[in-house]
Amino acid sequence: MATSTAASYKALVFDQTGEPLDVLQLKDMPPAPAELKEGEVELKFLQSSINPSDVNTVQGKYPISPKLPGAVPGHEGVAEVVRTGPKVDRLSPGDWVVPMAPSQGTWRSGGVFAAAGWHPVPKDIGLVAASTLIINPPSALAMLEIFHPLQPGDTVAQNGATSAVGEAVIQIAKARGIRTINVIRDRPDMEATVARLKGLGADLVTTEENLKDDLAASGLPAPMLGLNCVGGSAASAVSRILKDGGTLVTYGGMSMQQVTAPTAAMIFKDISFRGFWLSGRWAAAQGPAGRAASLDAIVQLYREGKLVPPQVQAFPLTSWKAAFEALAQPHRGKKVVLDCTA
Ligand SMILES: NC(=O)c1ccc[n+]([C@@H]2O[C@H](COP(=O)([O-])OP(=O)(O)OC[C@H]3O[C@@H](n4cnc5c(N)ncnc54)[C@H](OP(=O)(O)O)[C@@H]3O)[C@@H](O)[C@H]2O)c1
Repeated sequence: MATSTAASYKALVFDQTGEPLDVLQLKDMPPAPAELKEGEVELKFLQSSINPSDVNTVQGKYPISPKLPGAVPGHEGVAEVVRTGPKVDRLSPGDWVVPMAPSQGTWRSGGVFAAAGWHPVPKDIGLVAASTLIINPPSALAMLEIFHPLQPGDTVAQNGATSAVGEAVIQIAKARGIRTINVIRDRPDMEATVARLKGLGADLVTTEENLKDDLAASGLPAPMLGLNCVGGSAASAVSRILKDGGTLVTYGGMSMQQVTAPTAAMIFKDISFRGFWLSGRWAAAQGPAGRAASLDAIVQLYREGKLVPPQVQAFPLTSWKAAFEALAQPHRGKKVVLDCTA
């Protein structure tokens, strides 16, 4: 236990749902109390990411949301423990921690929390890996494991391959000898993007239009598993190349277009259409121990050099508006993160 530094913190706050630039405000929060209660920790946030689910939360389109008014968004980030209250044995001042559950409100410079909601992470994985640890890499890992028992030499196909999830899929699959067929949007820097994804271990990188022909030319076997974070025609394209009895797993809808199941894929190949939600059904099925084990598995991949963190574009918390303007740019190739110390 330690006495308060009487630190006062800032946080992005919203009182009603809407577009982030319209409804968020940077506010001074009440100072941390002089004495922490049993089981509490004071945390100083270092870096927090802005994920599509955060934007959806502020818009009121995500099933898990903080209580309004006065809600602080942010599902993901890394913080340093400043001091611990009585009966906190797992954490010590100076430790880095990440949230164990969504909606803890990470878009802030600091605050007081229940220690049980935070998981320690080693500093040697680096700030970017830690601040982007809890959502995208565990989603990639889980989706590669739970739908089909993939073996070395098998293939998996995905659209949205430039996303942080997509890049984690490429690397985790590569570490397991599974080959990846990656669909990306056409873009001005196509060659550089293909080279970047191949550098991460991608076997085939192509566009929706060229998928069928490029797959045939590559000699890669058809995949049992397809991952879809785009929807619309990009989802149908992936479902059409799946093997008999294969599964298309939808985990995002970046194009805002519905997934349409091609009739022929269903009749002639009995393709299944499934969904994945890390913070919902998956987290509930895992429980805290399973979620912690998944985070530890990701940390291990980082330590073994089998995973590299996403590239990021960092904005000071005080320049949060510029962060949301950057987020609106297509083909970023970089996650937008908030530097909570500035
Ligand atoms: N279900 C779950 O549990 C779960 C967990 C994690 C993430 N997700 C979802 O997974 C998706 C990716 O998340 P992320 O954090 O990895 O994203 P991210 O790094 O911000 O990347 C966004 C991706 O979406 C693509 N994209 C954006 N707008 C598009 C459009 N109109 N049409 C086609 N593609 C578009 C981008 O392609 P460009 O490079 O061409 O811009 C990029 O590949 C999101 O939908 C997110 O909500 C779901």
